[in-house]
Amino acid sequence: MSTEKKRIHEEMASLIREIEKHDEAYYVNDAPLISDEEYDRLFRRLQELEASNPDLASPASPTRRVGGKALEQFAKSKHGIPMLSLANAMEPAELEAFDERVHRFLEIEPAKPLEYFAELKFDGLSINLVYENGELVRAATRGDGETGEDVTGNVRTIRSIPLKLQGSDLPARIEVRGEIVLPVEDFVRLNREQELKGQKPFANPRNAAAGSLRQLDPKVTASRPLTGFFYGIGEVSGWTPPKTHAEYEKTLESWGLPVGKLRRICKGPAEVISFYREIEDARESLPFEIDGVVVKLNSFAQQQTAGFVARSPRGMIAFKYPPKKSVTLVEDIQIQVGRTGALTPVAVVSPVNVNGVIVRRATLHNQDEIDRKDIRIGDHVVIQRAGDVIPEVVEVLKERRRGDERRFMIPDQCPVCGSPSVRPEGEAVTRCSGTRCIAKLKERIKHFVQKDAVNVEGLGDKIVDQLVDEGLIRRIPDLYDLEFSNVLPLEGFAEKSAQKLLNAIDHSRTPELYRVIFGLGIRHVGEATAKLLAQKFKSIDALALAGESELLEVGGIGEEMAGSIREWFSHPENRSELEELVGKLEILAPSNSGVVQTFAGKTFVLTGTLPGLTRSEAEKMIEDRGGKVSGSVSKKTDFVLAGEEAGSKLDKARSLGVRVIDEAQFLLML
Ligand code: IVH
Repeated sequence: MSTEKKRIHEEMASLIREIEKHDEAYYVNDAPLISDEEYDRLFRRLQELEASNPDLASPASPTRRVGGKALEQFAKSKHGIPMLSLANAMEPAELEAFDERVHRFLEIEPAKPLEYFAELKFDGLSINLVYENGELVRAATRGDGETGEDVTGNVRTIRSIPLKLQGSDLPARIEVRGEIVLPVEDFVRLNREQELKGQKPFANPRNAAAGSLRQLDPKVTASRPLTGFFYGIGEVSGWTPPKTHAEYEKTLESWGLPVGKLRRICKGPAEVISFYREIEDARESLPFEIDGVVVKLNSFAQQQTAGFVARSPRGMIAFKYPPKKSVTLVEDIQIQVGRTGALTPVAVVSPVNVNGVIVRRATLHNQDEIDRKDIRIGDHVVIQRAGDVIPEVVEVLKERRRGDERRFMIPDQCPVCGSPSVRPEGEAVTRCSGTRCIAKLKERIKHFVQKDAVNVEGLGDKIVDQLVDEGLIRRIPDLYDLEFSNVLPLEGFAEKSAQKLLNAIDHSRTPELYRVIFGLGIRHVGEATAKLLAQKFKSIDALALAGESELLEVGGIGEEMAGSIREWFSHPENRSELEELVGKLEILAPSNSGVVQTFAGKTFVLTGTLPGLTRSEAEKMIEDRGGKVSGSVSKKTDFVLAGEEAGSKLDKARSLGVRVIDEAQFLLML
């Protein structure tokens, strides 16, 4: 190599070390050490050097993270040591039985507690990474355990996975095993994007992670915020592993690999069980999904002695939480009347534990869904609960039918007020046509007083039901005429609580305009739309008078919404109720300074032509909400708002993993 080449090679190597260090600081530790501009400079310099010296380019270069060429299909990749599975324990007694078994295999007397390493069981996709002299040379999925799919190009795009391990005492070759996951928040966002693009949403974060990793085009993987957790060891050469699992994970950590932070060394099963319980309590608030904890003999020597049965190590067990899906019986199907009169069929099921929550009701959505899934009263069904979504019936176990199951049809009349139910052509929803339906009224009040609307603190569903049932509220404005003597006799009230409720109602008399607009419960008008309307029309009167074309001028309002707003105001009932309400409230008109600072601290980059907004309108919307608009994309950019014919900024955003949104998503965020 010429001296010049040598110099370039050294500079490239040093740039790679530098960039790796910053990637870890940014993606693993969440604590960047340099500005984005400085980072970009390093990155670009490396890209330049590689472009002019392809012979010197390292396969482990961070520039490879942006996703290489799309593949025709995945190559097969055989694991050095097979990837096994785990036996399960579903309850504490089974964990105790496991502990007894392990004592026997190790020939250790029962009274001597064994030392276990307990950590999370990540619900993702298992992965096998191969590092040679510290360099990531291969990544493969589990496959059938012996042979998986080579997804190296995709795994390279995952920023938290080092392309080069840190430290000096590195193995000549090591298989490091772990799990690739997609955080729940990103899953929800990804699904929203899928739906906006008219693509099928993923059933759960695990499927989304798998779908994102098994992409033939690594650029797609690069755009998905996958991460990983590592815990396992496969074939190793040229290195002596530590003596315990706990030390092994510490080593992985020191190499720059992400490991689960929630882990504990436990002496005996009782300590494992209390770890399991603690994690169960925290489960819902974890940023990613888990389906249990994994319990492993901490000593590698003991793991070895315990050996294997079938395809599972005897010294480890998956201590699982109750599944998110459960089977139960549909005892009845009832109709729930919504605020807009929607008649939603709901299955009343035998109480069943789904993921730690007792479920008694599950939505059936509408008649088409009942028909499509052929759900009948008396059926055994699988129900599921995802995140905080209402439980739903996913499928019927038809093989368990006995012949006396009954079909269900949404009735022709509202079950509450008896008015005819109507299902407009082309719509899936059947509605109550009654204008004085008590069920509708209750739901409308609940909607009006909720936190994001006028916010009457402490006015819960049960109290609303009572107020309506007692005839104290017949229309929403009646809420503001309630007196102490009305509330006190209600069940569950004493002097203090009655006064508290009246104070809360009083407190809600000065709402911001958008809260009232949202609170009216106009179909299709959510909080975000209400804010847009408030901003544009500045008063209820102006909104009431706005014609369809004026409504359509508001970015983010389409024909369906405009139609629904017009329709709402065309009902004299609604108009008179609103007039009375306005007389009782002191509505705060929006001023620019009064806009909720949704985008405080967020940086946007605009590119391409947006379908409904001009560039300056979009900029103003961002700035009014405390956001910043910048001219160029960097790692610090929070969002790239892209329209048609977006160019290099879009490519840059994708390569940096910056979130790209279109106008519709942008308006939703407002
Ligand atoms: S140890 C012999 N630890 O669960 C396999 N596995 O049901 C040793 N998993 O295939 C696995 N989190 O993909 C281990 N902290 C954890 C885990 C974990 C998730 C997965 C892994 C394994 C499957 C077994």
